[in-house]
Amino acid sequence: MRYLVIGSGGREHTIAWRLLQDGSAREVYVAPGNGGIDPDHCADIPVGDFPGIARFCKDKKIDMVVVGPEAPLVDGIIDYLAGQKIPAFGPTAKAAMLEGSKLFAKSIMDKYHVPTARHLSFNGKKPLIEHVRKEKKFPVVIKLDGLAAGKGVGIPESQDEALEFIQSAVKEDSRVFVEDFIEGEEASVLCISDGTHIVPFVAAQDHKRIFDGDRGPNTGGMGAYAPAPVMNAARLDFVRTEILQKTIDGMMSEGIPFKGILYAGVIVNGDDIRVLEFNVRFGDPEAQVIIPLMNGRLGDLLQSSVTGSLDKINVSFSTMHAITVVISSGGYPGNYEKGKLISGLDSIESDIIVFHAGTKFSDGNHYTSGGRVLNVTALGSTLGEARDRVYGAIDAITFDGAYYRKDIGHRALARS
Ligand code: GLY
Repeated sequence: MRYLVIGSGGREHTIAWRLLQDGSAREVYVAPGNGGIDPDHCADIPVGDFPGIARFCKDKKIDMVVVGPEAPLVDGIIDYLAGQKIPAFGPTAKAAMLEGSKLFAKSIMDKYHVPTARHLSFNGKKPLIEHVRKEKKFPVVIKLDGLAAGKGVGIPESQDEALEFIQSAVKEDSRVFVEDFIEGEEASVLCISDGTHIVPFVAAQDHKRIFDGDRGPNTGGMGAYAPAPVMNAARLDFVRTEILQKTIDGMMSEGIPFKGILYAGVIVNGDDIRVLEFNVRFGDPEAQVIIPLMNGRLGDLLQSSVTGSLDKINVSFSTMHAITVVISSGGYPGNYEKGKLISGLDSIESDIIVFHAGTKFSDGNHYTSGGRVLNVTALGSTLGEARDRVYGAIDAITFDGAYYRKDIGHRALARS
């Protein structure tokens, strides 16, 4: 099989690595890819250039396209490739609305009794400001509808902060809603679906804030680990039946079958588990810890989703623990410089996997080219062992301004 993976982050490097490593693929191309991927297998095509992607698939005789990020899914890449008779893994544009429109996701959850926070929706700034002026209880959650690259959510602690967020982020015609703030611990529970059946994955937890102790601004994710013990067997079963399967069934009832990865970002407060958000693709950096723990061939799983035969496949997970720590550029998630020479990658031991994200390979060297640069990943028979492996290796990789969190996995490690 020849695969084309769409995207350029750590998630896409992980997918490509696994397809090759487990024998799913004879050849894997990545468009546009990154500095960790064999340059002969990087296709310099932007993720939004659907005709260019289709031409490449025909030229290289690609058997299956695997789409990493949400934007091309929401923009209809799966529908476009279907029109070109190119098999592709992921949801159609209509199904991807579960991530593309938070209000659509809310309407599905409300209609099919999937537990989530209560919300009130508004069209535009003015009615929202009127509502916030009357609000007595803070924090509240304010969410903009539509993809916003992680910038569409505010959790103001006071009325002043709420008004400030609205002035900076909400436009006169924005569709927006206010949600109850729910205390608890977050977890990422992903499954793969073929429109009818689901196969849940081992639960993960990511670390969205930039600084240790979960402080500072949100990022794309500074590290992750799996399995996440907050999601014990009973809770995982609840998420499987009451959240993931109900949503897949609801989408089918709406005439919008969902094929691909459904990612439920949930909040756990004792037995109270609710959906904070849905994503329609692998999480990044969750993929970097979930995929290495899978047994079997990733390609078989992806194909079973496309062909509607997930009920015929056996999927299991290793009993190991995985952790990934992101090394970012200094200044990220704010302004940062690119083009810094990365040293030390060659000295990394074979029990460490380094998934690249914002890197470029040029003249025999790796350089930084993004905010999240590398994902240093290890497995261990305990989370502590995996953590010690990663942190024992990470300082060998250096570049000017390199930064990483020192406490990835802290909640689970405190429990053990
Ligand atoms: N790690 C969060 C996300 O992938 O959206």
